[in-house]
Amino acid sequence: MVNTLPQQPKAGIKQPSQETILTPRFYTTDFETAASLDLSAQETELKAMLEEMRADYNRHHFVRDETFEQSWEHIDGESRRAFIEYLERSCISEFSGFLLFKELSRRLKGRNPLLAEIFHLMARDEARHAGFLNKAMGDFKLSLDLAHMTKTRTYTFFPIEWVIYTVYLSEKIGYWRYIIIYRHLEKHPENQFYPIFRYFESWCQDENRHGDIFKALLRSQPQLWKTWKARLWSRFFLLSVFTTHTLTVHERANFYRSLGLDPTEFDRQVVYETNETAGRAFPVKLNTAHPQFFPRLQRCSDYNMKLVEIDRSSQPKVVKFVRKLPRIAAIVWNLLLLYLIKPIDTEALRGTVR
Ligand SMILES: [Fe+2]
Ligand SMILES: [Fe+2]
Repeated sequence: MVNTLPQQPKAGIKQPSQETILTPRFYTTDFETAASLDLSAQETELKAMLEEMRADYNRHHFVRDETFEQSWEHIDGESRRAFIEYLERSCISEFSGFLLFKELSRRLKGRNPLLAEIFHLMARDEARHAGFLNKAMGDFKLSLDLAHMTKTRTYTFFPIEWVIYTVYLSEKIGYWRYIIIYRHLEKHPENQFYPIFRYFESWCQDENRHGDIFKALLRSQPQLWKTWKARLWSRFFLLSVFTTHTLTVHERANFYRSLGLDPTEFDRQVVYETNETAGRAFPVKLNTAHPQFFPRLQRCSDYNMKLVEIDRSSQPKVVKFVRKLPRIAAIVWNLLLLYLIKPIDTEALRGTVR
């Protein structure tokens, strides 16, 4: 669970950090099932969302202004490394969204025109986001060869149901991450060390809209929220997304500190808000107020930091493995206990039995 910085292959082209269980992935899905989804239960909502997407409020937003035109050499050492890693990770996850949406749009064309156009417009947004981040990396004399990555990365297959749960959550968590950083820097402009953060307010509205589209998709499929299985899957995906978040934020603690944010506080706020938001789409939300919830997540992150440390050591592979094993077991054990914390029934809170 560690990212290592490999050597540069060509000047200016950054070789992507090693893929790990925590790095953003590229996804593929069952396009046949996606094309045959019956959306009638949420058709009005989806049509309204399509109109919003067509309005393209951020058409002129992703334009680099003159504040970018300066040298960034003064950001150096550990803060430079941490910031580049942040840009890279964000760029790959935006680009991963672009690839999936573009492919969905292409495969659904002619079969499901409403969804095909919605995915086409979401791909438009994600391409802008990824491009903007890659240009920012260019300011640090690095960029990702996205076309090359498209061909060489492995694609993870997710059934369309999993895609709906996970993309919904990643859009909403993305929204909260961007807006919390933006609001923090509004109050502490002295920590705004690079202009990209000023773009986060309108940017996160794109993610919010994408999340709402996936909410409509989720609610159009009763098997994704009405059944006991849906409750178990919802708990699973909520916990997976929150764990990944907690672990990566603490692995990149220096970046958050450079913004004047406390990494643990930031992580908790993002998890809390995303969980509250998800309660509007999912049949359950996690009980973040449970006295064991955040402490156990934190314990997973502490064990993970130990794993990172072991990975960075120069010990033989087998020694590393033996040292890592009990920590991995401890993470799995804590996650199991977290999964078993009774969730909050959001359908009952809505008071609706549809
Ligand atoms: Fe995005
Ligand atoms: Fe998005």
